[in-house]
Parts: sequence; structure tokens; C-alpha cells
Amino acid sequence: MKKTQLLALLLATVFVPLAAHAQQKPVDPAGHQWWQHAVFYEIYPRSFADSNNNGIGDLNGIAQHLDYLKQLGVDAIWITPCFPSPQVDFGYDVSDYEAIDPMYGTLADFDHLVAGGKKHNIRVILDFVVNHTSDQHKWFIDSKSSRTSEHRDWYIWRDGKGPNQLPNNWLSTFGSPAWTLDPKTNQYYYHYFYPEQPDLNWRNPAVEKAMLDVTRFWYKRGVAGFRLDAVDTLYEDPNLTDNLPLPGTDKFGRPNQDEKYNKKLPEVHDAMRKLRTVANEYGSVLIGETWTANVAQLKDYYGAKNDELQMPMDLMMTGFKGLSANEYRAHIGEVNSSGQWPVWVITNHDIVRSYTRYADGAHNDDIAKLMGALYLTLRGSAIMYYGEEIGMENNIPKSRDEVQDPIGKIGWPIEKGRDGERTPMQWTDGVNAGFSTAKPWLPVPASAKTHNVETEAKDPDSILNFYRQLLALRHKEPTLLEGDYFAINEDDPNVFAYLRRYKDEAIMVVLNMSATQQKVQFNLAPAGFSAPKLSLLLTNAHAPVAAASDGLTMQPFAVFIAKVTK
Ligand code: GLC
Repeated sequence: MKKTQLLALLLATVFVPLAAHAQQKPVDPAGHQWWQHAVFYEIYPRSFADSNNNGIGDLNGIAQHLDYLKQLGVDAIWITPCFPSPQVDFGYDVSDYEAIDPMYGTLADFDHLVAGGKKHNIRVILDFVVNHTSDQHKWFIDSKSSRTSEHRDWYIWRDGKGPNQLPNNWLSTFGSPAWTLDPKTNQYYYHYFYPEQPDLNWRNPAVEKAMLDVTRFWYKRGVAGFRLDAVDTLYEDPNLTDNLPLPGTDKFGRPNQDEKYNKKLPEVHDAMRKLRTVANEYGSVLIGETWTANVAQLKDYYGAKNDELQMPMDLMMTGFKGLSANEYRAHIGEVNSSGQWPVWVITNHDIVRSYTRYADGAHNDDIAKLMGALYLTLRGSAIMYYGEEIGMENNIPKSRDEVQDPIGKIGWPIEKGRDGERTPMQWTDGVNAGFSTAKPWLPVPASAKTHNVETEAKDPDSILNFYRQLLALRHKEPTLLEGDYFAINEDDPNVFAYLRRYKDEAIMVVLNMSATQQKVQFNLAPAGFSAPKLSLLLTNAHAPVAAASDGLTMQPFAVFIAKVTK
């Protein structure tokens, strides 16, 4: 036996039991893992906190606010990409997966953040851009250098169909064709997103290995898991079959198409399983950016043997227009009966903020509290977006010149880009909302004067204090973590109400999704409570709420959360 073989054998003997040990241990008798009880908090690092006052947030800024996050009740933070990047897509164009962009700090700063997180019991999740790299990544620079380069087949290169013709009709979701010609080697490369984001060729085993190794690099540094970016587009039909047209045009004015041949290919699930196998070695969690049309599609991402993503995001509620008790009840009911652990999200860095989506001009803050009360009391894990807890609104650019997000420039005025939902965190009512003494990379909205951490912390009736109480309840009440979901008053079109039941008690959540006062009566006998006693846990009502025997009077957009005992 050669020395290296002997070493490998020894390492295997030592490390196999260690790896097995890393498998996740349940945190409760119900067999739940830590992430099933956790509230995750998405941080857009450019915009959270600017420790060196250059107008752009950074990792040390995040580290300085761990106390804030702990006090809020957050268990894990997901940091959107903070790796070296030309920042064409603000970090989603990665030029080195195993370093930190100097704009955000250093690897030592990252380690410091993870260590600080550990002290606060806040885990760190990174964002893994699996579908594509930056065109400045060394792999792509080599790939582009010649048709025979080592990394040529790491990306998707094809000849045009004929002179001056693209390889097929696929479109980039960011407004251009999906193919860009490289004049030097006279072939086209494929990119589902910007031309600066060439798609990796996941059919090449060397790509797969390199990407799995990236996850190992970060797991070893203490990362608790990844949010996997844009998983739907990992694979393309190797025959490059044209997509069929669909009626209508998209926001860039192009005919719609059915993306059958470049999206959601079955091979995606092979990649998810492989990423999961590595995650299991380190006891880590995988969250997916999983855009799905229905619950059945979402179910697929957990894997037929629960061997893919532990936490595919349910992004479907972010597409609901307005507030409809019937629509939420139907969806949530279906998710709960699907047999999987739900992952709730109401807003993120690609979607108009929930505050703005649901505001009616008269009850904006109450509606923000209602939305928080809804998804943070459901059975499942929850992912917040920074600023949601203070009622940050979208600050949509007023003119094309102001836009930073390239899709807003390409698609103006129909597509105004995503700047509006990525503005600086509002810490105070001072200059630049206390985010930075320098001009921030995006402007803060006027509402930062009232909606900021400092001001809201002093106001017991603020959105911030409502969220703090809500998250404290989640941590304190096993019923909110373990309890089942039982819909009540299912024929009420205005008020969405449910119980979370656990052992001998329940927590009742009543949400008036209408702008008018509603009288609600309950019959909890079918749920096992024939003579229920209610005690109020939390409300957004401005006057005391009385749970009279003949029912509850719910003001517009009122929230009523109560403990139910026998
Ligand atoms: C995901 C990200 C989005 C990014 C895109 C391309 O959808 O959430 O911000 O632009 O992937 O990486």
C-alpha cells in the first residue's frame, strides 16, 4: 500500500464516524431539527449596516447588530451573496466562491461574524449562486480563452444555427436573448440571467465536484447551511429544443414563452440530492429559491425520499394580490396537508416589500402586523426580510436615471427594477436613517422618519414591538412550534382564523383581513374544546379586546392571538 493510500484509509477511519456524528440531532421529543423551530432573517449586506461609513453595508456592520437581532428573536441570518463580484447583479455574479468581497470585509471578518453569531445563538446561512458565475470568474475567463481550454466545457457553448443566428429561441429572464456571441472563438454562450452571468454546465462532473467543494469550504468555516439561488435553471435540454410561444408579451415587450426546455428539468433533483448528501455530512440545512405554481411542485423539492432540500421556500403567497381570507385559508390548508414541513416567506430582495403590497393608506401599520402575525404563527419555519419588522416600504426610483438594478434600466418604465425593496435599513430618524454618514448607495424613503428602529423601540404600539412580542411567543410557546394546524370558521370570507393545537391546549389566531369591523363567533367543540377558556396573548388592537361570550369584535385588520384551554 502506498503512503497516500494508507493516509486516505486512516483519514476515512477517523472521519467517517465524525461525519455521521454531524447528522442533525432533534431538538425536541417530536423529532424536530433546529431549523424547524427557527426564524430566519434575510440580510442584504449592501443595505443592512455600514460600519466604515462608505455608503455600502458590510459584514462588520452585521456583527455590530447581533444584539439587535437577538432581541428581535431571530435564530439564523441568511446573508445574500457577499463573495467577490463585479456587482453587475449586486453579488449574484460571483467571481470567487471562496472569499469575501473587500467591499464587505475579509474572511477574518466573516469568521468574526460567525463567532459572534455563535455567542448569540444565531446561525449564519450563506447564499450559493449555483446556476452561474460572473463572466469575471477565472473559470469563465479560461473557458472563453479558446475552444480547447481546460474550462471550455464548464459553461454552455454552442454554434449559431446559421450565420448571424442564435443557437435557439431561449430568452434571458433579464431582458435579452439567452445567448451572447464571443467573437474570438465564434461561439455563443448561454446565460439565463445577464450576459455577465454565464450558466455553468452542471452536466460536466468537474463542475459538479467544484461546486460541492465550495459548500465544504464554507461548512468547515462554520456556516450552518445555504440558500440555493435559482435552482430551477441549473439544467437545459442538451438538444436545445426551441421553447413554444405563449400568448402575450413579458415586461420587456418580448413574446412570452413556455420555458419547458430550460427550466425545472428533472436533473435539477439529482443536483439537489448531491448537495444534500454533502450538507448531511456537516449537519447543515439547504433552503431553496423555489418558485412554484402549486403545492405539488413545491413538494417535489423536498425529494421523493426527503433527500433534497429541507427547506424549499414557499414563495406562492408573495404573489397573492391583496388580502383574501379564502385565498390564504385554501393555500395554507393545502400546504399543511401536503405532509411536508412548510417554509413561509412574505417578502424578499426581488419582490416589492409586503408593507407596500398590502398597504391601503389607512391601516398600513395594522396590516403589516397582521401579515407578521399570519406567517409567524403558522406551523413551519419562517424567513423574514430585513426591515419588515419596522414596516419598511418600497422606495421605487422616480426616474430611469436613478435606477441601479440593470433590469430597471432595461425594462423602464414597466420594469423598474428591485432597488425599491433593497434600500438601507432604517436605524434612526436621523440623516440617511442612521445607516451611514456617507451618501448611501440607495436613498432612504421619507417614511424612515417614523419607521425606524430607534423611534419604534420607544413606542409600545409599534410594528417593531409587535414583532418582538410575536417572536418571543414563538420561542416561549411550544404550541406555536409543535402544534398542528386546524382551520376554524372556514366559511368566513373576511376573517381568517385557525388553531394551533398541542397536548391539552391550543393557540387561536384570528385575523380580520378586511377594512371593516367584523363580529366573529366560534365553535371550538369540533377542535376538541367544548368549553374553551381564552386568554389574550397578543393583539394589534388599539383598545382593549374583550373576548365576550357572544363572540369577538374585530376592528379592521385586527389580530387576536389567544391561548385556549379546556
Ligand atoms: C435569484 C436572486 C436574484 C438574482 C437572480 C440571479 O433570483 O434572488 O436577486 O438576480 O437569482 O442570480
